[in-house]
Amino acid sequence: MRPRVAVVGPGAIGGTLAAHRAQRGPALDLVICARTPFDTLVLDTPEGTLRAQVEILSDPAAARPVDWVLLAVKTYDVAEAARRWLPALLGPETRVAALQNGLEHAALLEGHVPAARVLPSVQMLPAERVGPGHLRQRRPGALSVPTGADADAFAALFEGTAIPVHRDPAFEVALWTKLAVNAAGAVSAMRLEPARVVHAPGAADEMRALVAECVAVARACGVELPAGLPERVVEGARAAPPETSNSLLADRRAGRPLEIDARHGVIVRLGLAHGVPTPENARVCAVLGAP
Ligand SMILES: NC(=O)c1ccc[n+]([C@@H]2O[C@H](COP(=O)([O-])OP(=O)(O)OC[C@H]3O[C@@H](n4cnc5c(N)ncnc54)[C@H](OP(=O)(O)O)[C@@H]3O)[C@@H](O)[C@H]2O)c1
Repeated sequence: MRPRVAVVGPGAIGGTLAAHRAQRGPALDLVICARTPFDTLVLDTPEGTLRAQVEILSDPAAARPVDWVLLAVKTYDVAEAARRWLPALLGPETRVAALQNGLEHAALLEGHVPAARVLPSVQMLPAERVGPGHLRQRRPGALSVPTGADADAFAALFEGTAIPVHRDPAFEVALWTKLAVNAAGAVSAMRLEPARVVHAPGAADEMRALVAECVAVARACGVELPAGLPERVVEGARAAPPETSNSLLADRRAGRPLEIDARHGVIVRLGLAHGVPTPENARVCAVLGAP
């Protein structure tokens, strides 16, 4: 029997994954748990538009236990979404794939599901919301997860789709590397300028410092990140099309809440715990407002 999957939070990441999963056959095994209801899931990709008629719930009273919950809300919505949906969706064997940026996937779900049933992930999936149930995937994407039986079962959900799932023996390195790369994105959000900000006076140094702090905290936590990462991040920003936005900048411009705690507060907290100074990440928290 095909595993039943519930996607909680059909935004850029959740909606994109649901649309790809739905291409595998009749979408009877897929349910979407939405805060803002919609009728049809539509995903624009560079290769064309995918449409899926799937069951969409906005009331947890109609939800039933599933094999997999794909939890794809923003980090600051995890606790509320879990409180609302997980009691109905969790059976004794249900696994929860946590599809957020940051390091604290299981911690954010503490009290809602045992950590051993949470599968953390890294999402290399550039996507955005066009409207409720309507997503745009900008480039081909992939997910990374740790290795193990749950990771194998999760990867099987996307077999035959355009979403490769990498089971990464060095998952912690991937997780921290994404955190470090994301850290540099705060410079755009603070200066309200897209990728071209890297050419502004002092911006490249700020990016290097944000990434270097994350590298130092990772090392203190026992995770060695790739050599030269701060410079590589700056080179990547210089090579990007000048008008490229990042999600922090897009969210700030749209007046939406920002994932500052998950992206910068965590670096500051772990830095404090390990005696590693993190003044640049602390400045981001002060300017952009970690809760
Ligand atoms: N977008 C990207 O390209 C990208 C790339 C890599 C990683 N990420 C990470 O992926 C995570 C998800 O980001 P995203 O960009 O997909 O966010 P998003 O587009 O804002 O989508 C979040 C979705 O969660 C829904 N939601 C919030 N609370 C809910 C609840 N209680 N019940 C059901 N649905 C609820 C929202 O519904 P409403 O429509 O009502 O707001 C929205 O549809 C973040 O941690 C982000 O950093 C994103």
